[in-house]
Amino acid sequence: MPGNNQTVITQFLLLGLPIPPEHHHLFYALFLAMYLTTVLGNLIIIILIRLDSHLHTPMYLFLSNLSFSDLCFSSVTMPKLLQNMQSQVPSIPYAGCLTQVYFFVFFGDLESLLLVVMAYDRYVAICFPLHYMSIMSPKLCLSLVLLSWVLTTLYAMLHTLLLTRLSFCENNVIPHFFCDLSALLKLACSDIHINELVILIIGGLVVILPFLLIIVSYARIVSSILKVPSTRGIHKVFSTCGSHLSVVSLFYGTVIGLYLCPSANNSTLKDTVISMMYTAVTPMLNPFIYSLRNKDMKGALKRVLQKKTLF
Ligand SMILES: *[C@@H]1O[C@H](CO)[C@@H](O)[C@H](O)[C@H]1NC(C)=O
Repeated sequence: MPGNNQTVITQFLLLGLPIPPEHHHLFYALFLAMYLTTVLGNLIIIILIRLDSHLHTPMYLFLSNLSFSDLCFSSVTMPKLLQNMQSQVPSIPYAGCLTQVYFFVFFGDLESLLLVVMAYDRYVAICFPLHYMSIMSPKLCLSLVLLSWVLTTLYAMLHTLLLTRLSFCENNVIPHFFCDLSALLKLACSDIHINELVILIIGGLVVILPFLLIIVSYARIVSSILKVPSTRGIHKVFSTCGSHLSVVSLFYGTVIGLYLCPSANNSTLKDTVISMMYTAVTPMLNPFIYSLRNKDMKGALKRVLQKKTLF
């Protein structure tokens, strides 16, 4: 048992990124620009899909959900990082830290569940094109989105509640730019075996199961194309699944990079850089991946802008 003279931690210090002081302003401007691009890019996608009735199809409604999730995911960490880069004492209150953990896990997991839903949507679109509209009914779409929200709520709750059990002693310095779950566990002075076990088993399931489901969807898509090989079929797959595949690779590339390539020394530095990748870079790139090569999105933008100039 911890001693009685133990101090109760009311706040944590976030060490932030290992940036040399002379480059501080440069990085501040860079992160601010990245965050604003993320917010703007994802907002444009959400508004465009809302405004243009041509885009009221399951694929784009899911994309709009993904954009919302990206926007929130980035907002969990980036504003605090920017604020802390400006302040003398980069602290975060205990409750703020728990809130950050909760929403970080929530939106990170929501993102991966939505990617599964989108893979299933592509699978139905390519393997059952004639029944697509009747299978992906508005009711099913809404249920899939709701199910993702329920699962991710339970999962984030589990981690946050397990975290509240822990007590923290003298050390309150987090060598990271946000309240990362694993960085927090390292600071705890109570037994963290249950937390580690839950992360290992359920966390592993939450990362691996969606990944497997996506692989299965794509395996079925590819096998259905190979049954009747044609350049038109292959072209169709690339034009409708290309963006989704890029986003999936980006998301799982960084996650796999983080967990499967442990480095002995300098691990905090590597962790921070990779965290930067998935908290700031991935949510920023998703809107571009989906809209740059996409005729529907460009057409919608044109229609919405034309409507505006008519009035
Ligand atoms: C998310 O998807 C559901 C179901 O397709 C849709 O009704 C809803 O409008 C979407 N939400 C957002 C923010 O786009």
